[in-house]
Amino acid sequence: MHLLSILVLHGPNLNLLGQREPGIYGSLTLDEINRLLQAEAKKLQAKLTILQSNHEGILVDAIHGCLEQHQGILINAGAYTHTSVALRDAIAAVNLPTVEVHLSNIYRREDFRHHSYIAPVVIGQISGFGVQSYLLGLQALTHHLSLS
Ligand code: DQA
Repeated sequence: MHLLSILVLHGPNLNLLGQREPGIYGSLTLDEINRLLQAEAKKLQAKLTILQSNHEGILVDAIHGCLEQHQGILINAGAYTHTSVALRDAIAAVNLPTVEVHLSNIYRREDFRHHSYIAPVVIGQISGFGVQSYLLGLQALTHHLSLS
């Protein structure tokens, strides 16, 4: 059985999940989220490469590195969602199906979180369901890739 290969990117401050504003982001650590993602990927017959970085350029480089390696990208760009033209341009440049996820509902929060630079270059966005946002995003991405 051919496995889909997917890059999972976590942006800045997500390494602190578990201790970081648990009322907003929940109590799971990033390792726990990654374990749940790996278990879901197994069911979906996908293989995940997972990277967290607090550095914009490292995330840009990882997106460039996707070509020839991965079929799709699942990304929680954290605060770079609201600031980074570079991440948006990188996603547009590699032109791989990408799903944007957020633990919190960014539209219920401060105004500056209501705009996503990357939303226009992704297939879709899932926001507000905690860790389920990641799992639903992975399901949506693998479903999309299995049709293409
Ligand atoms: C986030 C929402 C962003 O606004 C914030 O900067 C984050 C996490 C989320 O998953 O809810 O770091 O992407």
